[in-house]
Amino acid sequence: MRRNWLDLLQIGKEIDTPDKKRRFNERHFTEAASRYDIATRAMSLGRDQSWKKELVAALPEIDEPLCVDLACGTGDVAFLLGSRFARGRITGIDLTADMVTLAARRNRFHNVRFACQDMTETSFADASIDLVTGSYALRNAPDLAKGLQEVHRILKPGGDAAFLDFSKSGRPEMQAIQYWLLKCWCGLWGTVLHGNPTIHAYIADSLEQFPPRDDYHELVRRTGFDLVSSRLFYFGMLELLVIRKT
Ligand SMILES: C[S@@+](CC[C@H](N)C(=O)[O-])C[C@H]1O[C@@H](n2cnc3c(N)ncnc32)[C@H](O)[C@@H]1O
Repeated sequence: MRRNWLDLLQIGKEIDTPDKKRRFNERHFTEAASRYDIATRAMSLGRDQSWKKELVAALPEIDEPLCVDLACGTGDVAFLLGSRFARGRITGIDLTADMVTLAARRNRFHNVRFACQDMTETSFADASIDLVTGSYALRNAPDLAKGLQEVHRILKPGGDAAFLDFSKSGRPEMQAIQYWLLKCWCGLWGTVLHGNPTIHAYIADSLEQFPPRDDYHELVRRTGFDLVSSRLFYFGMLELLVIRKT
């Protein structure tokens, strides 16, 4: 789809209801899939993989855990889980069929599998999962509260979930700086890799619609989780949040 820099200003309107956001995401990530791995490495200045390793390292030791990686994309976190929990079973789920196909093609682990599913309506039974992960996942949920409720539903009592994502400051001036930084930096990479600035610049808009850090933590608590730990990276731009179903 041919898009220009002016279209950057319209993205917010395309994701302002759960249905619109789900449709936008499926279209958007289908277009982004083929060069997604290059884009994440470039946009994070090569840091993405080490953040994902920290995410998996933050999980508790469990002998044979059932793990679900939400919005798995091309499978990075699922593979790290497969390696750390050799006796576990890992399922990576993603809305976008092209992402799931790429992840399955990269898969060298006997204990990792992938499926096409919406993170707000998964197929897992109640209280059946030991660990849930998500990198750049919940921010993409069509409805954040529903996404958290789904994590709560599928986790066993006492089960942990770890999420790595951009984090929004509570201060309006910081939010504005962060928004335009992401819009320009990610828009640039969308243009370089796809000839389409709206690809990846979407990160700024999805974060704009995401709650600031304290409100996000409050929502997590209200959903029935305890906060286990929160670590910030990159001047507070990213957060690694570990939570536990009470
Ligand atoms: C920024 S990518 C992150 C991919 C991967 N977790 C990573 O860190 O490399 C966001 C992913 O969310 C997926 N996604 C968007 N909406 C979703 C939904 N409702 N349910 C499941 N996955 C979704 C997209 O298809 C995309 O693969």
